[in-house]
Amino acid sequence: MSAVRVYPNDVSLAQAAAEWVVQCSAEAIEQHGTFNLALSGGSTPRRTFELLADEDHVGRIDWQRTYVFWGDERCVPPDHPESNYRMARQALLDHVPIPAEQIYRMQGELTPQIAADVYERILRAHFLTVRGKLPDTTFDLVLLGLGSDGHTASLFPGTDALSITTRWSTANHVPQLDTWRLTLTFPCINAASHVAFLVSGENKAQRLRQVIHGETADAELPAHLVQPRQGKLVWLVDEAAASAL
Ligand code: 6PG
Repeated sequence: MSAVRVYPNDVSLAQAAAEWVVQCSAEAIEQHGTFNLALSGGSTPRRTFELLADEDHVGRIDWQRTYVFWGDERCVPPDHPESNYRMARQALLDHVPIPAEQIYRMQGELTPQIAADVYERILRAHFLTVRGKLPDTTFDLVLLGLGSDGHTASLFPGTDALSITTRWSTANHVPQLDTWRLTLTFPCINAASHVAFLVSGENKAQRLRQVIHGETADAELPAHLVQPRQGKLVWLVDEAAASAL
């Protein structure tokens, strides 16, 4: 079951997304004492991250009980301009009182499969600790973006990571970009309590329509394979992205 919420522009979309993060954090901490969040990469979420660090939001999240992970990462060092971690640090994490040991970046500077194996162990150990047993749920909230080719996280059309059924994180070779990426897998994402796509811009409109209406084969449209087993899926989009719905 997914809901599509349309906002006038990218600013109101970011404001709604920041409110959604605050709401999910309060629900999670009330339910089980921690808020386990996976951040998306790319450019769309930056404004949302900046809002979460501003005076209207920063005090409304219990950062001492918050654990931050990533949905995907480029295979670059953490200070590289393309690093999703670097963007989130600059926009959000350097400006909120979250304990450094509660920030779990994907180590893009390592050999891809080693980095993925390290992250797999971190995820399994973390959710064993915070959930008391290996859960059938993972994150309280996963933030995702939508690529104009239908990818999400670093789950790109036609790549090997789409077919993973057990691991929660993996290295994924992306021929389209001639590069390796690190990404959460569908088993991990679809075990989340909440998944929120943030989609902005006319250039996503056709793809968004295809994903929402399931118009294209799943392997060509990885975002359509985000179907939380028990969690809730919401699409937070602006009018430009929704213009073909
Ligand atoms: C990444 C992202 C990726 C992103 C989409 C949308 O590392 O690039 O995780 O999945 O969310 O490509 O990117 P934009 O928000 O820049 O359009």
